[in-house]
Amino acid sequence: MEIVKSLIFISLAVVLLFASIAEANIKAHHHEFIIQATKVKRLCETHNSITVNGMFPGPMLVVNNGDTLVVKVINRARYNITIHWHGVRQMRTGWADGPEFVTQCPIRPGSSYTYRFTIQGQEGTLWWHAHSSWLRATVYGSLLVLPPAGSSYPFTNPHRNVPLLLGEWWDANPVDVLRESIRTGGAPNNSDAYTINGQPGDLYKCSSQDTTIVPINVGETILLRVINSALNQPLFFTVANHKLTVVGADASYLKPFTTNVIVLGPGQTTDVLITGDQPPNRYYMAARAYQSAQNAPFGNTTTTAILQYKSAPCCGVGGGSGTKKGISVKLIMPILPAYNDTNTVTRFSQSFRSLRRAEVPTEIDENLFVTVGLGLNNCPKNFRSRRCQGPNGTRFTASMNNISFALPSNYSLLQAHHHGIPGVFTTDFPAKPPVKFDYTGNNISRSLYQPDRGTKLYKLKYGSRVQIVLQDTGIVTPENHPIHLHGYDFYIIAEGFGNFNPKKDTAKFNLEDPPLRNTVGVPVNGWAVIRFVADNPGVWIMHCHLDAHISWGLAMAFLVENGNGVLQTMEQPPADLPVCY
Ligand code: C2O
Repeated sequence: MEIVKSLIFISLAVVLLFASIAEANIKAHHHEFIIQATKVKRLCETHNSITVNGMFPGPMLVVNNGDTLVVKVINRARYNITIHWHGVRQMRTGWADGPEFVTQCPIRPGSSYTYRFTIQGQEGTLWWHAHSSWLRATVYGSLLVLPPAGSSYPFTNPHRNVPLLLGEWWDANPVDVLRESIRTGGAPNNSDAYTINGQPGDLYKCSSQDTTIVPINVGETILLRVINSALNQPLFFTVANHKLTVVGADASYLKPFTTNVIVLGPGQTTDVLITGDQPPNRYYMAARAYQSAQNAPFGNTTTTAILQYKSAPCCGVGGGSGTKKGISVKLIMPILPAYNDTNTVTRFSQSFRSLRRAEVPTEIDENLFVTVGLGLNNCPKNFRSRRCQGPNGTRFTASMNNISFALPSNYSLLQAHHHGIPGVFTTDFPAKPPVKFDYTGNNISRSLYQPDRGTKLYKLKYGSRVQIVLQDTGIVTPENHPIHLHGYDFYIIAEGFGNFNPKKDTAKFNLEDPPLRNTVGVPVNGWAVIRFVADNPGVWIMHCHLDAHISWGLAMAFLVENGNGVLQTMEQPPADLPVCY
């Protein structure tokens, strides 16, 4: 009798256990994002900025690895919009990825679309942003992926999580800035300020009242989740007098290393631990440009936030310095690298090692060599000179393997693929540049400056093992391009300067513990080699995350075919997926 009783008890417990596991497995977070114009005042001027729920930056999302997000986006603005979940792999849910005319048509003013996806096997910091025109200048926010409930970080448990979104602010409507540059063919205007969590900080006019303050206690360790959400500028970031311990990037863990400064290209995230081990005071956190392209104008200002010890002998909130009982506290300013300090960038990126042994594919099925760079188109005959304000009366362009990527306008690539609609794209993106030349040499022939235009995809069989050598070119100017691939994380197995040389550079490949990322800064005048397994069917754009370069065509897309069975096949499109016309 006793045995029967305990058996019943045990089986009941087992049932309950499984029920709670099942429940944990379907933990879904529901959110509503209302896209709306909102008054935002920065640099002494008020603008009608496009925001999510009236917030700038937008809402922070916090989930555990394994959770599902359901975000209903309601467009009450006057622009078309889409939202991209930057770095989320979107396994089989490419319909929720978000890039306009790639995986969906835009959400029209007055319409809505619900993004549904699950985050699996990614932990750390990701973010979300608009992926239409330049709306991401104000439509962006952080997405924190914590370890699954019940498990912990592979490092000291931080006292607090602090997302730091680095951004760019225009004293203008960003959509107009882009439109104007497309009209003139010249480079778009630089932003007027960099920001940390939407605030320019003490060094800009009318800004010190609202400078972002990060509190810390003596002895505390906090996790800064730094995100470069700027549109066009790689940025250095540092904190006065404090060491930064890097523990992750792009939602993958790293072997911890300490540094004084970190650098992030747009799209990249870096998680750093910082400990309150300095005299209680107020210290600036600061970010400013890393500018690798020479002779190109850029914003040379510095954005700041304040790391403030709770026991600091001060502190009226805001203001450049505080006083209390007659003690004035001077804020301590850090030293930032020179704008063109590529050595610091190289040293930093070469410190990256994945925490654990990586599963890098060693056999390769698809080996691509892809040039990334700018170009100049001659002024078309029917254009007036004011439409050709690029260098020497040209119009700026950009390309990968000499193809300047053109998005369709009446279908998205994924919808066209799924429904078999012909004429929207072709699948002949070249696996190597059409002409071999000295990519990083000093005298590149002008005949190589004008790329072809096309909507060319590269087809990948499900499961194929892919290597891509990304090679910067010196056409117009060499530059560090942050190349972002949707739908995948990839291993960065090597990088270097000059032209990639398979005979000697393969010796540098790290197949043991290379970092796993979704965005790689291809060194200026250099190259980077990435690898991934094409295990996520769909259409995935790969592009430079400098937004100025996207509109010029610095992009291509992969079409990854379905494999066998349901688990290797894309889900059906959601019923509310926007259609173009
Ligand atoms: Cu963060 Cu295609 O972008």
